Amino acid sequence: MSASAESHRTTLANPPNAMSSEVAEFLAKPKKLFIGGQWHDSRSGQTFDTVDPSTGRAIATVAEGQAEDIDRAVAAARKAFDDSAWSRMRPMERERLLHNLADLIEKHADTIAEIEALDNGKSVVIARHVDVKHAIEVYRYMAGWPSKIEGQTLPLSGSLLPDQTFVGYSLREPVGVVGAIIAWNFPFLLATWKLAPALAAGCTVVLKPAEETPLSALFLGQLITQAGFPEGVVNIVPGFGDTAGAALSSHPDVDKVTFTGSTEVGRLIARAAAGNMKKVTLELGGKSPTIVFGDVDADAAIAGAASAIFFNHGQTCCAGSRLYVQSKRFDEIVEGVSEVARKLKLGPGLNPETQIGPLVSATQRERVMSYISQGMADGAKAVAGGHALDTDGYFVEPTVFTNVNAEMSIVREEIFGPVVVAAKFDDLDEIAAVANQTSYGLAASIWTKDINTVHRLAPKLRAGTVWVNCHNVLDPAMPFGGYKQSGWGRELGKEALNSYLESKSMCINI
Ligand code: NAI
Ligand code: MG
Repeated sequence: MSASAESHRTTLANPPNAMSSEVAEFLAKPKKLFIGGQWHDSRSGQTFDTVDPSTGRAIATVAEGQAEDIDRAVAAARKAFDDSAWSRMRPMERERLLHNLADLIEKHADTIAEIEALDNGKSVVIARHVDVKHAIEVYRYMAGWPSKIEGQTLPLSGSLLPDQTFVGYSLREPVGVVGAIIAWNFPFLLATWKLAPALAAGCTVVLKPAEETPLSALFLGQLITQAGFPEGVVNIVPGFGDTAGAALSSHPDVDKVTFTGSTEVGRLIARAAAGNMKKVTLELGGKSPTIVFGDVDADAAIAGAASAIFFNHGQTCCAGSRLYVQSKRFDEIVEGVSEVARKLKLGPGLNPETQIGPLVSATQRERVMSYISQGMADGAKAVAGGHALDTDGYFVEPTVFTNVNAEMSIVREEIFGPVVVAAKFDDLDEIAAVANQTSYGLAASIWTKDINTVHRLAPKLRAGTVWVNCHNVLDPAMPFGGYKQSGWGRELGKEALNSYLESKSMCINI
């Protein structure tokens, strides 16, 4: 690719002994499928390699689950769902198991962070202090729910009731067997967003991690057993999307499918789920605007806008990938963000100095570079970055584009890399329309000191989260998800829990 050779950047190297002995031991063990509480080879005997994206070298060989393995895992999950060890377990005991799991994750947090850094490429420091720390809190937040899942008393009084006495109330019950299919950008965290509420609700789960990043889910399988969950409550089947993923999303004995990934695959999953009318939650792509007004403090807005896009190398569904700045401050803010982009240190995830790791795969690097090339061909100007690094790892420079227009693919489509497009705006109504000029609706951020601006603009934004003077901030109690083609339903908070519960109305003639 022409854009790839010109970069003069160098990457950091890993310090000697960057990998701990616990991680080396884990990597050396066979990587099997976790089904019914046991570790199995796949029925076909097939395996696949997972690579370290900072070197392109294989780090582990993993059993490849396919349709027949998914069948086996779903059968184990169904059996566990029906079995009294789980279905009749007291809610407070479910809470204890979730707390046990959170404690075990905390005990092994450094190990999980290292596995994540190796398999995904992200900084080990971020993995430890964002991905794993947040995961622990989500398990603990959801562990609080089981004993508090309540129905309602229903005051039945309509004229259709016969002239007798009725008692009405509702119950919340687990939806059943859940198929969870996740992406590779936050492997451990996304598994948590599905597992924690599903288990709190009393569901059983078959989890299919992304083929790029199966390792932290397999490590989690060991902790599930140690935490004391009955066999088959959680099953973990690594494999590819069009085989294992497709089998899980169309399986007739799965009651709900929950997915995080591309909008394109979200559409396939919704179709596959229609066969037996599975309940569906989808957390899909985004093209979120970062909207900077002219009254901001420059340092905070520049740091915030840079972090909005470059956090996790732009491989974040809610990344602030469209930067809109009020005209009078445009040059200053965009130059500031570009300066940050030029100074960010690229390197492997295991080096604690690394600020931008490699993209997850060669495919992702090619996808991002083809957007960058297309942007240049369309007349956009890369004022920072614009190149892939000439190394075996999948590094792409943090890139800032100006001279963009609404027709360009770099402005319209999710790039999912460290690439931001910057454009000017003048007034609030104009920016509201431009911000919504996308098929996505996951998130937006507004940067201003003016409370009136916030309250006038936020209601106009068609987005599931609106951050004010911050971006990419998540909390276990705050629902997260998308309007429009960014998805169906919400992760986190009570809304996520409710999506794993059915409602049963009881109507009793006494
Ligand atoms: P993807 O959507 O293909 O993969 C995500 C998960 O879906 C993986 O576990 C994969 O095995 C599974 N999958 C793929 N095809 C499937 C099918 N037919 N049935 C069931 N499961 C299937 O995402 P991919 O290819 O890794 O990335 C492509 C683009 O998607 C990225 O460039 C980015 O724009 C977007 N994406 C968005 C994410 C988000 O968080 N919003 C996460 C990952 C990707
Ligand atoms: Mg794919």
